[in-house]
Amino acid sequence: MTLGMFADPSFPLRRSQERLECAGARSGCHDRRRGLPARIPRRARRRVTYSTCMRRFNTEGPIRPEDHYHVPPLERVDLDQILDMIRRKRYFLLHAPRQTGKTSALLALRDLLNRGEQGDFRCEYVNVEAAQAHREDLSGAMRTILGALADHALLSGDRFLDGVWLDILSSFGPGGALGAALTRWSLADPKPLVLLVDEIDSLVGDTLLSVLRQLRAGYEQRPGGFPQSVVLCGVRDLQDYRIRSGSGGMIAGGSPFNVAAKSLRLADFAEAETRKLLAQHTAETGQAFTPEALKMVWTQTQGQPWLVNALCADACFDNESGRDRSRAVTAADVLDARERLILSRRTHLDQLAHQLEEERVRRVVEPVLSGGDEPRYHLGGAP
Ligand SMILES: Nc1ncnc2c1ncn2[C@@H]1O[C@H](COP(=O)(O)OP(=O)(O)OP(=O)(O)O)[C@@H](O)[C@H]1O
Ligand SMILES: [Mg+2]
Repeated sequence: MTLGMFADPSFPLRRSQERLECAGARSGCHDRRRGLPARIPRRARRRVTYSTCMRRFNTEGPIRPEDHYHVPPLERVDLDQILDMIRRKRYFLLHAPRQTGKTSALLALRDLLNRGEQGDFRCEYVNVEAAQAHREDLSGAMRTILGALADHALLSGDRFLDGVWLDILSSFGPGGALGAALTRWSLADPKPLVLLVDEIDSLVGDTLLSVLRQLRAGYEQRPGGFPQSVVLCGVRDLQDYRIRSGSGGMIAGGSPFNVAAKSLRLADFAEAETRKLLAQHTAETGQAFTPEALKMVWTQTQGQPWLVNALCADACFDNESGRDRSRAVTAADVLDARERLILSRRTHLDQLAHQLEEERVRRVVEPVLSGGDEPRYHLGGAP
């Protein structure tokens, strides 16, 4: 939303109009107008279609299916393979560069497993990123990790850890409390526990080492006395890990997590998935993308999920003229959106520049960041 919108005297009217149009669109009928109050002029009914309650392109965190256009997260992974590994009690890794959809996929997997359609599992998600601030202070980091685990469980209605984790920490100390908590938590319920650990590689040195070693130590007790399956998710492939101490020295030569059976990589969108995402906007609002615009979104992003969303959010929502749903989004609109994105230097672009180490991703992001000459934006196909 731009500040200019607030200066527009028709703005409140537009907002109520938007909500009514939204109700029509959500029910699959874009021209359903019967619910409109008579005092809204007919002209206004057609003119404005910008919506506050329809789904949108998401550029902030994991997708929420009810709020955001999305490619179903579990269609982006080899779900059969993942379910097979979970059933076979494997511990494995899911990794991908920043802003690819890892957390969205994990949350969808958690919900799928907890629905019970795939067998009798209870699945918990935990994000251990908050422990990063403790660096190699194992005691502080483990306290944060156990607290996060108890909080996530509590939010999903499981109070077991909340009642015991502080006692476990004081009895077993930071070098054993995670393992001890997982054993007791697993024993407390006959349903096999599946644990999804997000941002695992935000942990460093001794802290990372201790988490991995405690998981390895309990591995043989699964599924009764330890999680049946653990998915570690992060940017790097843990099998390639060399664990360094804060001072830079190597404290573990290879991966100490040698029980990890497999490492899965979440890919960027394929061109068909990119189009599928944009088609959702067209289906919900009636606003088309010209064939050239569709192509331009693909060539500019190569399917990098956040970039696709950011370009389209700008072109279709943030930019005033893009909010006219009777007008198709053109290739020029996409290029304008790209320029605005570069000028705004959104956080994620900086993150992508610093954190994506892969050549394949850098080829996509670097030209967008550098604002380079036109030919540098034509990024070619897959490697
Ligand atoms: N299934 C999806 N459909 C559409 N867009 C998606 C999807 N998954 C991710 N995205 C895009 O990627 C962004 C980041 O999603 P998410 O937080 O799940 O990724 P991540 O890989 O966990 O990121 P980070 O590495 O920063 O934790 C979203 O805000 C959205 O723009
Ligand atoms: Mg994430």
